[in-house]
This record gives sequence, C-alpha cells and structure tokens, in this order.
Amino acid sequence: MERGSRVLVAGATGRVGSAAVRHLLGAGYEVRALVRRAEKAAKLRELGAEVVIGDVTKPDTLGPAVEGCRGVFSALAAGPGRGDAQSVEYRGNVNLLRAAEAAGVRRFVYSSALMADHPLAREVAEFREKAHFEGELAEARNVSHAILRPAMFMETLLMPLQGPVAFVPGRQRLPVSWISAEDIGRAAARAFERDIEGRHELAGPDRCTWDEAYARIGEAGRRRITVLHPPVAAMSLPGRFVPQVGDLARMFAFFDAAGYATDPASLREVFGVEAISLREWGEKVFRSGTLG
Ligand SMILES: NC(=O)c1ccc[n+]([C@@H]2O[C@H](COP(=O)([O-])OP(=O)(O)OC[C@H]3O[C@@H](n4cnc5c(N)ncnc54)[C@H](OP(=O)(O)O)[C@@H]3O)[C@@H](O)[C@H]2O)c1
Repeated sequence: MERGSRVLVAGATGRVGSAAVRHLLGAGYEVRALVRRAEKAAKLRELGAEVVIGDVTKPDTLGPAVEGCRGVFSALAAGPGRGDAQSVEYRGNVNLLRAAEAAGVRRFVYSSALMADHPLAREVAEFREKAHFEGELAEARNVSHAILRPAMFMETLLMPLQGPVAFVPGRQRLPVSWISAEDIGRAAARAFERDIEGRHELAGPDRCTWDEAYARIGEAGRRRITVLHPPVAAMSLPGRFVPQVGDLARMFAFFDAAGYATDPASLREVFGVEAISLREWGEKVFRSGTLG
C-alpha cells in the first residue's frame, strides 16, 4: 500500500497496536488511532497519530473512524471493562470490517493468534472467537487481507511473576515459540508496505518451555527465577465465579496439552523482520527496571 496513505489502528493503546502505530508512522503512513477514551490519546498524539474516539462494539462510532482510510489494522483484546471475547474479538471486528467495506477501505490486516483454530482451543473463548473472525475476513470480497498469527508474547512472561518466583499453571512441558509485541507491530507495518496477503504464523527465534524461557531472561538480568507450576485444576473453582480466571484456566490447559510452537521462518522470509531473542528482550526489560 502506498506510503502516505492513511491506516486506522484499532487497539492502538494496546501492546501490539501501539507498536504498530510507531512502525506504521516510521514507514511513512498516516495513522489514525481508534481510542475508546480521550484520556488515553495523549501518547498517541505525541507519536504523530491522529486520534478518533470510538468503540468497536458501537458500530455507529466506526463510520467516522474509517472515513478516508485506505487500510485498517486490528489488534483488539477482550477483558474486564472491555467486554467478552465474542462481543469484542468477533462482533467488534465484524463491525470494523463492515464499516471498512462501506467506506471503501482496500486492506484489512488482522492480528489473531497462533493455533486459533486448533480443535483443543475451541473451549477457549479468545481463540474460538478469533478463529470465527478469521473465517469472516477470509470471505470478504472487497478488501485484501492478511491474518497475522503471533506465538506467545514475551510480555506474557511478566504476568505470572511475583518477585523472583513465576507461578505458571499446569506442567507446561511442551515447547512454546516466543515473540515480542514490538516485532508483531513491525510485521504489521510490513504487511502494509509489502502488500502481504494470506495467513502467517509469527514467531521469534526461541522455541522452548516456560521454564527455559524464564532461565533465558533470568540469565540476561543475572537473576534466578524460580518457576512453580500450580495445577490448572486449582483455578477451576475460582473460575466458576470469575469468568476471566475460568478463561485463563482453559487457556493454560490448552497450552499444557498442545504446546504453542511454530516455525520462525515466515517472520524473516515473508516480513523481513529479524526478531529479538528472549535474552535480548530480557536485557531490555531489566535495563528499563520493569523487572527488579
Ligand atoms: N499474550 C499473548 O501471548 C498473545 C499471543 C497471541 C495472540 N494474542 C492476542 O493478540 C491481541 C493483542 O494483544 P495485546 O496484548 O496487544 O492486547 P492489549 O494490550 O490488551 O490491547 C487491547 C486493545 O484493544 C482495545 N479494545 C478493547 N476493547 C475495545 C473496544 N470495544 N473498542 C475499541 N478498542 C478496544 C484496548 O483499548 P483500551 O486500552 O481502551 O482498553 C486496547 O487498545 C489479543 O487479541 C491477544 O489475545 C496474545
């Protein structure tokens, strides 16, 4: 897609979306950021993005958002205060796609997830709804599309950490591929620059278990990280009362059963992105002070 044309980024305040905003601007595109609340707009404006207030679950807010755009990049996530996976990740993305089609947008790049349509992932709402929207996008006739399927975000390693201990549900003995949100944002910009079409799995160079991943980032910061594995079943009872805990339990049960690994070649060969390793990412987070 020609440089200088305008791309709407949905999920622009998120990890992948904000990285995509930076890389699209860096590649010479005009970026319009879809933001739910005005107070989150300042950083995006500082970067050079135009901000439009809207919500993908409210279709009437999307017409003005896509007006005059040639492309859309979507990296939405459901969650508390946002809505459930079906309303945000499926219906919200369908609303965005329909608004884009009506406004004559030519490109739609969607950030999904690795193994979104795996048979064992059907119980996991975030995966099921992504796979559902992938099907909808593949059927769209008037926009060309690319579906990015990133592996496990390196940033996810920060979630289970409490001081020097990581609590990772399940045994997690199968390998996982790791990628930084920054590299997904970089790939999203390349998808526009190179007019990449079709579905692509995105992974960095590391393919290892959670325990090994913590060992690699621990080495980067010269810290020892102890990994404990509470059984997934321990989350089942609280999961009955708190839906997010239930979703998380089903997700970790899925990783336990299927792993989450893929070949890293397409990120380099199709997108021309040389992804950072866990060790390099670890050095960055220790330097920034995010990890003690
Ligand atoms: N974590 C992993 O390892 C992993 C692996 C593969 C794929 N993924 C998927 O990658 C995607 C992006 O992840 P991420 O970490 O970048 O997500 P994130 O940081 O949680 O950001 C999600 C974005 O979606 C926006 N959003 C949510 N509901 C919205 C609505 N109704 N209207 C407009 N915007 C809305 C949020 O806006 P607000 O700031 O206003 O809430 C935020 O900008 C997710 O779908 C995730 O499931 C994750």
